[in-house]
Amino acid sequence: MRRSFAFLAAAFLYSAAAPTAFAADAAHGEEIYNSRCIACHSPDANRVGPKHRGVLGRAAGTVPDFNYSKAVKRSGVVWGEETLDKWLTNPQAFIPGQRMNFRVADPVDRADLIAYLKSLKLP
Ligand code: HEC
Repeated sequence: MRRSFAFLAAAFLYSAAAPTAFAADAAHGEEIYNSRCIACHSPDANRVGPKHRGVLGRAAGTVPDFNYSKAVKRSGVVWGEETLDKWLTNPQAFIPGQRMNFRVADPVDRADLIAYLKSLKLP
């Protein structure tokens, strides 16, 4: 009896501490970026999609020499944690008429990706 109580107490403490395990993980974000985003994006070169370095705090559709959709150029969106989360959840719902045909369904993956994008600072 006493032993099972100790087990329950430990399980409770573990679950109470668990949320810290979900703090955004930029290293995991980089792995996801290199497996799912890299086909179209890179930090420092425009490809099918625009380059990403410095994207946090930047107005959408403003990387020079990238041919954006009118929808993104005219969106008035500034990229921050919230706007990136909405974009990655469903770009077409967030900016109708955009051209990125890709979604990230898992909220933890999105948070980790955003932490990685945040780390791509301009020199
Ligand atoms: C199939 C190709 C493709 C994939 C895969 C893709 N993107 Fe995109 N992305 C685009 C295109 C094309 C645009 C430009 C959209 C437009 O102009 O309407 C874009 C735009 C963006 C923008 C807006 C940038 C700006 O300068 O305004 C962000 C942020 C972005 N993508 C993040 C990501 C992330 C993070 C991933 C990986 C989870 C990803 N994309 C995967 C094609 C892609």
